[in-house]
Amino acid sequence: MARSKARVYTCCALLLLLLIAIIVVIIFCTRPTRRTESKCPNGTFSKAAVAADTRKCSEIGRDILQRGGSAVDGAIAALLCTGIMNPQSAGIGGGSIFTVMDSSGNVKIINSRETAPSKVNPDLLNYCPKSFKLISGGIWIGVPGEIRGYEMAHKLYGKLPWADLFQPTIKLAREGFPIPLVQGLSIQSIDKNQTQSLWNIFSDKNGNLLKAGEIIKFEKLADTLEMIANNGADVFFTGKIAEDLVHDVQEAGGVLTLEDLASYKATVTDAWVVPMGEYQMYIPPPPSGGALLSLILNIMKGYQMKSSPQSTDQKVQFYHRYVEAFKFANGLKKHIRDPNFKSEKIANQIKEGSFANYIRSLISSNRTHDPEFYNLTSYLDSMGTTHLSVLAEDGSAVAVTSTINYIFGSRVYSPSTGIILNNELTDFCGRADNISPGEQPPSSMAPAVLKSGSEILVTGASGGSMITTGLASALINHLWFGKSLKEAIATPVVFVDSENSVKFEPNFDKDVIKALEALGHNQKQATRFYNVVNAVEKKGGCVCAVSDYRKRGEAAGY
Ligand SMILES: *[C@@H]1O[C@H](CO)[C@@H](O)[C@H](O)[C@H]1NC(C)=O
Ligand SMILES: *[C@@H]1O[C@H](CO)[C@@H](O)[C@H](O)[C@H]1NC(C)=O
Ligand SMILES: *[C@@H]1O[C@H](CO)[C@@H](O)[C@H](O)[C@H]1NC(C)=O
Repeated sequence: MARSKARVYTCCALLLLLLIAIIVVIIFCTRPTRRTESKCPNGTFSKAAVAADTRKCSEIGRDILQRGGSAVDGAIAALLCTGIMNPQSAGIGGGSIFTVMDSSGNVKIINSRETAPSKVNPDLLNYCPKSFKLISGGIWIGVPGEIRGYEMAHKLYGKLPWADLFQPTIKLAREGFPIPLVQGLSIQSIDKNQTQSLWNIFSDKNGNLLKAGEIIKFEKLADTLEMIANNGADVFFTGKIAEDLVHDVQEAGGVLTLEDLASYKATVTDAWVVPMGEYQMYIPPPPSGGALLSLILNIMKGYQMKSSPQSTDQKVQFYHRYVEAFKFANGLKKHIRDPNFKSEKIANQIKEGSFANYIRSLISSNRTHDPEFYNLTSYLDSMGTTHLSVLAEDGSAVAVTSTINYIFGSRVYSPSTGIILNNELTDFCGRADNISPGEQPPSSMAPAVLKSGSEILVTGASGGSMITTGLASALINHLWFGKSLKEAIATPVVFVDSENSVKFEPNFDKDVIKALEALGHNQKQATRFYNVVNAVEKKGGCVCAVSDYRKRGEAAGY
């Protein structure tokens, strides 16, 4: 009896335990589990990111993405911000080229690069200097298309209201902010004698130029941005801003007219697609420099390097071929022109693998040649510009390079609009024999999106002639040599200048430099390397974003 009673108790106890266990399981499994927050490694993001030239602008772009904005929305907000954080590089007085991938993987190019004004001086190219120097003055100002580019991009891909993209920058410009380091250094290059109006906005009340860390405001520009935010792009091209801008530009010796602004149109075209290993690389066609980037990559791809060169001999061989590839690319630059004005068949061939094979066949492993061998004709190296890369949560991506050309462009400041004007027409120097009204100057800009399955790499660079240098180096080191995005971008570069001389970034391997000199490469010193690559990559579900330390940039994401 007692035994069977005990058995009943045991049984009940077991049943009870089972019941409790079931209840516990039910409670735990149906409770909304806190999402295992990204297993993405430290320093990476799980959803989206923006890599701009300054942390502030990356953050402004990220905030827009977090509010449900598209990659284009984030890009426009971050570009507007860059116009005040790095006003020496870009702004609404310039132009830009967007490479946009939508969430289904379709890619378009939006081109709002400056054009030659209708009254451009036919003899303008006679004023080109023989070697690089800061060229200022109203005669070099191209028709600023920047805002038409934003308008077109937003019309096609925008999600948030247009005005919302302007608000963060308007607030900053009005309230003021500490001058970032690179802007501060650029301000020191302003010359009172030549550019009084520019001097005025970048100086304190005692007339001394401002320095990094001091507070600057751009109140006039804030008014202009507010008008564009509230009234749309037309106010810039046919309204009050157009009138003021034309007046100020003509005052400064420029030839911009109301008709130039009124007739300016941003264009939308297909991207060029270049197979790059397992990736498809999307780049803008001429007048941008995408074809030259593709040439360099295709030449180097043919050497089938699976890992980074280790021994000094291997490094010398790699860099010798790489420098030779750039020497050929420099000789081919003159074929990159605005296709609406000068259609160069060769420009279309340059990006092809077969053309790269031909050029590779001309590269000797143990010697280099005089500039004539590469058909090099003199042109001007340039500098400046900004690039930003954006990847949104929905998979849409933007690589956009924007510029007023040289540091502070033409150095013409329009007092009634707060706009700094570009000197984009200097990009024709050495690259063209004549200029047609409406023509876009050739460019090195190559905002690129690379896609392979679910992996995506959004990249681009600033730095004028050093754009191709920075991009090629970062892509080769990352995609083929397996370096992290950050290490790849930080790798010291060799720049092959417009005379085919080589310039090595500090920290470049000294033994390799010696060996390359022994092979006959002509070395020159360079003090500053302004190749600046800003990139965002999504791989294995995590987002890595890197802004180049060379410009003290920082990315932001979530
Ligand atoms: C600017 O002008 C002043 C006087 O007019 C002259 O002394 C000075 O050398 C000039 N500076 C430059 C950089 O040309
Ligand atoms: C360069 O290499 C070629 C074969 O690739 C060889 O015939 C030639 O002698 C070499 N020249 C020098 C200077 O080493
Ligand atoms: C240099 O120009 C000549 C004449 O146009 C051409 O035949 C040759 O292929 C060019 N070489 C290169 C490397 O582009």
